[in-house]
Amino acid sequence: MSHFSYRNGILHGEDVPLNTIARDFGSPTYVYSKAALTEHFRAYADACKANGRDDTSSLVCYSVKSNSNIAVLNLLNKLGSGFDIVSGGELLRVLAAGGSPRKVIFSGVGKSREEMRLALSHDILCFNVESIPELHRLNEVAAELGKRAPISLRVNPNVDAKTHPYISTGLKDNKFGVAYEDALETYRVAASLPHIDVTGIDCHIGSQLLDDAPLLEAVDKLIELIDTLAAEGIHVHHLDIGGGIGINYNNDQPVAVGDYLSRLFAKIDAWRKAKYDNAPIKVLFEPGRSIVGNAGILLTEVQFIKHGETKNFAIVDAAMNDLMRPAMYEAWHGVQTVKQTTDDNAPVYDVVGPVCESGDWLARDRALAIEQGDLLAIMSAGAYGMTMSSNYNTRGRAAEVIVDGKEVHLIRKRESPADLFALESLLP
Ligand code: LLP
Repeated sequence: MSHFSYRNGILHGEDVPLNTIARDFGSPTYVYSKAALTEHFRAYADACKANGRDDTSSLVCYSVKSNSNIAVLNLLNKLGSGFDIVSGGELLRVLAAGGSPRKVIFSGVGKSREEMRLALSHDILCFNVESIPELHRLNEVAAELGKRAPISLRVNPNVDAKTHPYISTGLKDNKFGVAYEDALETYRVAASLPHIDVTGIDCHIGSQLLDDAPLLEAVDKLIELIDTLAAEGIHVHHLDIGGGIGINYNNDQPVAVGDYLSRLFAKIDAWRKAKYDNAPIKVLFEPGRSIVGNAGILLTEVQFIKHGETKNFAIVDAAMNDLMRPAMYEAWHGVQTVKQTTDDNAPVYDVVGPVCESGDWLARDRALAIEQGDLLAIMSAGAYGMTMSSNYNTRGRAAEVIVDGKEVHLIRKRESPADLFALESLLP
């Protein structure tokens, strides 16, 4: 269910009218719902349980890049989440939020020596390695620290995730992972390195997947590879399927998490029964968007209405620097007026920001009964919203709040202009 809905003609986040948030915290402001975050995380955790998994045989590693506010991480940590990180910075966030490094997996194609050192010194659960040079670097850094680095290889199963090319990652021609055909040889290299411990296998084929068929196809390919590896005496103890389940942006109908996990576990159980005498394999997930995406909105105020020759513009105080997705992927986000309106003949607007770029739009061709000063909610903005924001045009980043029932908690202050150049200095 949506935790953003109209009551008495005003859009609420849980029990809080969004206009009071704009009044108290200004705009633009990201608003997240604690109940929604909880519900979306539990969809994974409960489906693991329902399929006979406990904490030792499954782990949901929330993908920090989708929304990395430490309050969000702290909440998910309390719910039992692990974390999928892609930088040393994200590891420090997880630690600041009280997360255990023993539940952290480290993905990404370009890990620096410093990041490897940091992660090794905290004994993270696993490095998701994406190339042979990375294996060698990790082996060297682990040797310097007198440790063995637990690794999984990110294998590129070459299945078509049928999503936007910018967020499709499992095909041959992108930079991620080790090609399926090279995986065996790469595992042999890994197994031969003295400071590397082969512990798992992983993939991540893309994001905003509405159907689980490509994910299940990817798993079939990983299963095949695990069998081949086992025959060579290389044993992997966990299987990490990555993230990727989509959300409803525009009447989209993503597969239900519970259904996907049931099909997945059924497949894995049948395979373990047939080939490994039912010996379990730990299953990991790296969901991001499906946990936070529809748990957040971006609240913004209409500054001006402008009637151009061919278009009407609603110029709002949020911009592409706050929410990059429309400019970058032509992504569609719903726009709702905070004050409920019913005008069937409302004019059609492009909702645009104040940034000096024609690409600075948040929504196009939307019928909106609005006037200057009205508040809008840009929907489904909880994932890849704040984390992809920038300070372009010396715009301070938005504030972030979490609503919890009737309460509102500020979880990130709005940046002030002085914050933005605090690290800069004049020439002598
Ligand atoms: N694991 C890995 C290795 C990833 O690269 C990603 C996302 C995830 C997990 C989480 O995927 P999710 O469950 O959120 O689909 N900025 C884009 C999305 C980029 C996704 C990058 N990787 C957007 O705004 O649509």
